[in-house]
Amino acid sequence: MKFFIDTANLDQIREAQQLGILDGVTTNPSLMAKEGITGQDNIINHYKAICDIVDGDVSAEVIATDFENMVKEGEVLAALNPKIVVKIPMIADGLKALKYFSNKGIKTNCTLVFSAGQALLAAKAGATYVSPFIGRLDDISTDGLDLIEKIRVIYDNYGYETEILAASVRHPMHIINCAEIGADVMTGPLSAITALLKHPLTDLGLAQFLADHKKGNS
Ligand code: E4P
Repeated sequence: MKFFIDTANLDQIREAQQLGILDGVTTNPSLMAKEGITGQDNIINHYKAICDIVDGDVSAEVIATDFENMVKEGEVLAALNPKIVVKIPMIADGLKALKYFSNKGIKTNCTLVFSAGQALLAAKAGATYVSPFIGRLDDISTDGLDLIEKIRVIYDNYGYETEILAASVRHPMHIINCAEIGADVMTGPLSAITALLKHPLTDLGLAQFLADHKKGNS
């Protein structure tokens, strides 16, 4: 399973990269705004800075909502670095843009996916990644993991190569459950990733080992 971090915060991206388990980064306009990154030039420079830190794919979202401008924006983003994945919303013009970029061999991430039907369309359009937002479904009392399961079955039925990128991951159990279901990728906050490290028995056991070592060597 690939681990992406869902942030535009460079310190957190560096920290995750240094852990040695990071496969990529996803951003969105809200995450960029949260870091105070505004204006086209600053946004472009920020994507370049992210690409300099990580080894894997970096999703950069288009702002346009019509086909022509999505293509224009996406081409500028894709030209920044081969790591860039053009992130496109699941709307009719977005579907056309996914197909356009797929035909050109440019990687895409279809975002804001909330149903199996939308995921099926994204795969048919040749998206590299499809991003079902599981946390936001949970927020409205709908089982986000159930959607991941449905998409896994559909993609396996037809051998679609689009990778299921479980997005809007909020906590470590989301990651574990997505891994059990067979999501190809998850994207979540650094806190959810580092929470996987923790177990009280690990801490207790380590403290005991160190104490016994000290006794034996004193
Ligand atoms: C996905 O690529 C989005 O950036 C993200 O996962 C949204 O998560 P949120 O629902 O926590 O905002």
